[in-house]
Amino acid sequence: MNIDPADFHALLRRRRSRRFFTSRDVEPEKLERALIAAMRAPSGANTQPWEYVLIERGPIREKVREFCEKADVKFHEASPDWLKAFFDDHMITPVKEFAANAPYLVAVFGRRDLPFWLQSVWLSVANFINALELEGLHSLTYTPSLTRDFNKLLGVDESWSCQAVLPVGYGEPDEELKPRPRKGPAEKAHVVDGEGNLKPYDAHLPFEP
Ligand SMILES: Cc1cc2nc3c(=O)[nH]c(=O)nc-3n(C[C@H](O)[C@H](O)[C@H](O)COP(=O)(O)O)c2cc1C
Repeated sequence: MNIDPADFHALLRRRRSRRFFTSRDVEPEKLERALIAAMRAPSGANTQPWEYVLIERGPIREKVREFCEKADVKFHEASPDWLKAFFDDHMITPVKEFAANAPYLVAVFGRRDLPFWLQSVWLSVANFINALELEGLHSLTYTPSLTRDFNKLLGVDESWSCQAVLPVGYGEPDEELKPRPRKGPAEKAHVVDGEGNLKPYDAHLPFEP
């Protein structure tokens, strides 16, 4: 297998969160390949503590939207000032049109009774969003604080913990994507040398934020 590392890096850099979607249907095989990628993630003791629930379009979606918006109103009100400023700057409001109209909403749950469930679920989500990007699909890692009533609404086990509700589809081409620069290894990697001294990592490769 020859995957050019440059292609992999380009894919990671190209993926952006999208909050507005066209009505174009998602090809089921593309979504399924992304689900397969999600399920290839490593997990503590290989317990695979994730459960993916695909919520199709239909009347259920307005109810899901209500749950999400209610949760977000509370979250925005309780947010610290810096986060409120981030939301304002990026025009993120509790209005969640995508919950009603994205072709799919994928609710990702974690099985809390299993060891390392939280870490494992999030590794799986990372695989999922990057695999969607590979398929030319778009998504948003959306994390409303939903109550157990949401589990009831979907008819899933009440012990599962909803970690994310990801809209999946084709992003509106007109959506303005503000830059979200990343810091590279020069700032975010560190070295402890053989004598036990913590040092900055000495980065050599070009890094595009
Ligand atoms: C754990 C996690 C939680 C997030 N929660 C939300 C959310 O609730 N609402 C939202 O609009 N974006 C959410 N995001 C998206 C981030 O704002 C976004 O990934 C970040 O600003 C980087 O932008 P990018 O994804 O376009 O590269 C979340 C991302 C992560 C990884």
